[in-house]
Amino acid sequence: MTVLVTGGTEYIGSHMVHTLLDRGRKVVVLDYLSTGVRANVAQDASFVLGSVGDTALMKRVLAEHAVETVIHFSGSVIVPESVENPILYYSNNTFASLHLVNAFIHSGVKKFIFSSTAAVYGITERNPVSEKDETNPINPYGRSKLMTEWLLDDAAHAHDFRFVALRYFNVAGADPKGRTGQSTPRATHLIKRACQAALGRVPQLEIFGTDFPTRDGTGIRDYIHVSDLAEVHALALEYLGDGGESQILNCGYGRGFSVREVIDVVSKVSQRPLPTREAPRRAGDPPVIVADCSRVTSEFGWQPRHNHLEEIVSTAYAWERRLNAA
Ligand code: UD1
Repeated sequence: MTVLVTGGTEYIGSHMVHTLLDRGRKVVVLDYLSTGVRANVAQDASFVLGSVGDTALMKRVLAEHAVETVIHFSGSVIVPESVENPILYYSNNTFASLHLVNAFIHSGVKKFIFSSTAAVYGITERNPVSEKDETNPINPYGRSKLMTEWLLDDAAHAHDFRFVALRYFNVAGADPKGRTGQSTPRATHLIKRACQAALGRVPQLEIFGTDFPTRDGTGIRDYIHVSDLAEVHALALEYLGDGGESQILNCGYGRGFSVREVIDVVSKVSQRPLPTREAPRRAGDPPVIVADCSRVTSEFGWQPRHNHLEEIVSTAYAWERRLNAA
């Protein structure tokens, strides 16, 4: 009954490992520690240092740990970086996933959960956007993930496995028990950067784009708490275990906040004024993207427990302070 978590030392993966262990699952983490933090892996999980692109290693790990399900988080996730270095993204996301899928098919693993992204939609015609809407990614990050969804879809028709691909909207916050959080010093995500600015770790927060066609001119996103997202994966694991068919599902809360609204909440939570600077739009950023999350709710019976922006920010801020103190 072992679950293999790739990228289990990273931000979302480390929350996943805690959620699985909390539910009594056996876990093995595979990670090559490029940006992850070894200390974020729970003691009770096994750890293998290596890359999903190493097919011989993958086959050995899958066999030795009798892996039944793979949850695949490892990959690159920064939109502007993907615009500057697309080869890295097709290599770390699409190509590495191809190797992983090939390895688990040949090892007889029949269940797979994949970290996809809202970036597969691009600039949406309507919001909230549903899984039935057109996918038209506008950056290499989104394309590299969409190509992996296609690969999974084709491979699952030809081979004996089922998968759930989860299209994450904007993941933020940290474990409410304080066991892990977003630890990468160079993280680019809004809530992390805003917490760093509140604590004086970066001189200011840049607001990328104030001329979007939105209510206050700044970008609107659907922020989902990382622990709620980990819970969706745990439900996906049960769903596949019960014989559920392959699925692609949005993961968000169905409501959006602008950059300025997020800044207000971070100021309120931190009780500090946030130094900001208006800057041009960032390459590859759509103006608005909000999830229609009705399917994940109906398919899995998912009930979010941390769906308040203030809670998301409070947990992120608490984690950031702890990093500061370290
Ligand atoms: C993108 C993907 C998301 C994916 C994530 C993974 C899209 C639409 N979404 O999130 O699905 O999970 O990457 O990394 O492509 N911002 C600032 N200042 C900052 C940082 C961000 O103003 O210092 C703004 C951005 O312009 C954007 C919003 O805040 O409007 C959120 O940005 P960010 O947190 O970086 O995530 P996305 O790029 O939206």
